[in-house]
Amino acid sequence: MSYLPHCFVFVFIFLTARASAETTPQSIPPLMYGSAWYPEQWPEAEWDADLVRMQAAGLNMVRIGEFAWSSLEPAEGRYDFDWMERAVAAAAKRGMVTIIGTPTDTPPAWMTTKYPEILRVDETGARLQHGSRRHFSIGSEKYRQLCRAIVERLAVRFGKNPHVVAWQIGNEYTEDSFDPESRGRFHRWLEKKYGTLEALNQRWLPAYWSQTYTEWSQVPMTTGRANPGLLLEHKRFVTDTWRDFQRNQIDALRRHIEPRQLITTNLGGLGWASRFNRQHIAADLDVISWDEYLGSGWFDKTKNGTGHLDPLRSGATHDLVRGWRQQNFWVMEMPPGFVDWGSVNNSLDRGETRAMAWHAVGHGADCIAFWQWRSALNGQEQYHGALVGPDGEPVPVYAEAAQAGADFAKAGPVLAGTQPVSEVAVIHDYDSRWAIEFNPFSNRYDQMQILMDYYRALRGVTGAVDIVTPEMDLSRYKLVVAPSLNVVSPELATRLTDYVRAGGQLVLGPRTGMKDASNALNRERQPGPLLPSVGARVQQFYALLEDVPVAGAWGAGKATVWAELLDRVAADAEVTLRFGAGNDWLAGEPAAVRRSLGKGTISYFGAVVDSALMDELARRWVTEARVFTAGVISAPAGVKVSRRVGRDREVYVITNFSQAAQEISLPGAMTDVLADGHLEVAKVTLPRYGVAVLSRGMAR
Ligand code: GLA
Repeated sequence: MSYLPHCFVFVFIFLTARASAETTPQSIPPLMYGSAWYPEQWPEAEWDADLVRMQAAGLNMVRIGEFAWSSLEPAEGRYDFDWMERAVAAAAKRGMVTIIGTPTDTPPAWMTTKYPEILRVDETGARLQHGSRRHFSIGSEKYRQLCRAIVERLAVRFGKNPHVVAWQIGNEYTEDSFDPESRGRFHRWLEKKYGTLEALNQRWLPAYWSQTYTEWSQVPMTTGRANPGLLLEHKRFVTDTWRDFQRNQIDALRRHIEPRQLITTNLGGLGWASRFNRQHIAADLDVISWDEYLGSGWFDKTKNGTGHLDPLRSGATHDLVRGWRQQNFWVMEMPPGFVDWGSVNNSLDRGETRAMAWHAVGHGADCIAFWQWRSALNGQEQYHGALVGPDGEPVPVYAEAAQAGADFAKAGPVLAGTQPVSEVAVIHDYDSRWAIEFNPFSNRYDQMQILMDYYRALRGVTGAVDIVTPEMDLSRYKLVVAPSLNVVSPELATRLTDYVRAGGQLVLGPRTGMKDASNALNRERQPGPLLPSVGARVQQFYALLEDVPVAGAWGAGKATVWAELLDRVAADAEVTLRFGAGNDWLAGEPAAVRRSLGKGTISYFGAVVDSALMDELARRWVTEARVFTAGVISAPAGVKVSRRVGRDREVYVITNFSQAAQEISLPGAMTDVLADGHLEVAKVTLPRYGVAVLSRGMAR
């Protein structure tokens, strides 16, 4: 008899504990590890088996909902969120937090039928029809209303859900639209920016070929061979339109979600795509995510790729993404072995997927997630890699993903609060990128390859490089290099000059300062408004067919692809490289100059040079700028070393992408985080695709 009250007490304590566990917000795991999961595509009875397998693989996060509009709102105004709530709870039961994707990449059929004006129109004027995704217009006000309505309701329903830790807005912003409403938006956007047609006609010089405008509505919306001012403004308009589209949902979310729930979006396009300015998109978010895929471009074996991860290019892409907010980021999607949209969708090697995940973490990823968890029975991506097959049973790469899951559980706490730190930045400016894309002048001038030449050489010396747009905070860098900074406004020239006067070392690369903010030529020629600072100007630029030797205090080598004949206008501008014989216009002329300005130096380097000279220049610039290099661990070719720094420790992530096992000597004893019991080691031997995570207290 006397036990009864005690039982009630225990039951009461148990229920309150469970209730509080169910209501206590779950924090984001230090290393989030997950997968895209589509509960709306599977019978609910199969959910738990999938979640149990996810948990067994060490996953601690699921992303759901980004394509689920027709399941969330089967008919206009008839919402069904219960299944999603059950999915979130089911995932939580198996130890996983949830990221909800807003479903705005895939408007349902009832909506596109009732509101055809929301459908995207391509540049040929063809309006898209239902049946795929990305078929909406970012310029459609009606679509924004519909997006706002469902996102607001989702935010009300899940904004305080303890298991929901973040929101992903839409999915991989890609296509802009040429529908009449978007055209109207463009014209209003131009009017707001320029004020009068006179101002626009003055800046764009449309008198050229009698393009002068007398009505805003006459201004074409085109990506073809058009006025450079128009083309640049259209890119900026597309950027602002995506930003508006995103802000529409951010505002709806912020009104209801708890501040602990973060807002992100997953940018695709293999990171480097230049459809719009991604840094501007990232600026409005809490954290930026991207989708690292290997399927085309430098990966594509049928072109000049390797069919496997290129650690240098992949690393540079991570550094580009990190640079958009100068903070760690999330890899929201990566392939579990292979994709389905490349020309030959070969599988990554055994071990390569785990190494690819760790490689991203080394560059600052705090989340790794796969696309996708389970092969969908139907739909446009049946062949795509997954962790389990259509039967829900693991496929071969599952075991590797599980190994990475075990790694992450061990290393997460050690990596928490750490991030890559660099004292060197390479400038990647979208305006300049677009200006050169519109008019490359030489198809040998691959500005991404040229940026990669700088990046490769600098990372080889410093072990860490940030890639940032010129708008970012540059004061943290001792050395800033700016290849292809084609568009330079007076404001930017002032910012860069101030950076130098304050002690920064700035190296301006080829094609700097040719254009103003309207993509018009700077009258004073290159480097435009930076001329007084540089103390030299470009008398003429040359697209090269043959290489030209260069030599001087900075070393010797050959100019290839592009060369600029410099003319000193300030006596204290020191010539550091001259062109040799072989091109009559250039022979003996200055190819690079350097000048002290305030506490810093500014250099102009008007040639693309061979990689050996690039390495030499990088070593010189890094030394002169006194960049921290003590943290660099020298490793054999093919072994990638990345360093993350926290308040009291540094953590190295080493991945072996070479064809053989490699031994790496460490500059002192370190804790081998992945080894059971955290062994102290002075060297590591890694098999092919082997990974080591090593930590120690701060040496610096
Ligand atoms: C993209 C999309 C996913 C899926 C994968 C396939 O990144 O975001 O929905 O289509 O590609 O690789």
